[in-house]
Amino acid sequence: MIRSFLAVAALVVATGAVVAQSDPITTRRNIMKQNGQVTRLGNQMAKGEVPFDLAKAQEILKAYAVAADTMHNYFPDTSRTGGETTAAPAIWQNQADFRARFDAWAKDIQAASAQTKDLESFRAAFGNVTRACASCHNTYRIKT
Ligand code: HEC
Repeated sequence: MIRSFLAVAALVVATGAVVAQSDPITTRRNIMKQNGQVTRLGNQMAKGEVPFDLAKAQEILKAYAVAADTMHNYFPDTSRTGGETTAAPAIWQNQADFRARFDAWAKDIQAASAQTKDLESFRAAFGNVTRACASCHNTYRIKT
């Protein structure tokens, strides 16, 4: 179940790269939806609701790493509105900061991946990298 879900998630990112040029809003929303899904799994693992699995923990961090590397490509000037986007105008007003947040997040994810060896280290690492979610959303998403 979890395995097939992660396979689908990887496919979303791979396909995303192809359609990105024509539909950046859908692409970035799909990448973020995938972030939401893997985060749910990460939370369940951190809480002990599903058994800890090191390979899956690393796959979650890998999904974040792909998002951190690619997301910034999907905010061209022409994509400020439409497609039910919740992207805030602040993204285009502070583009350097917006990109820097993804770069900083990528570094944190790398550290988290190196640190994750067992459930305890995953909990700490997962807590660190998921702080970036709300922090970015508070500034760069419109509240709906
Ligand atoms: C540096 C900025 C940034 C970070 C970090 C970030 N996000 Fe987002 N996220 C966004 C933006 C911008 C949107 C709005 C995209 C749109 O609607 O065009 C978004 C949208 C979303 C959505 C809604 C997708 C949809 O439209 O249905 C979810 C879910 C989400 N993010 C989850 C996460 C999770 C979970 C994390 C952390 C693991 C995370 N995000 C980290 C910027 C970020």
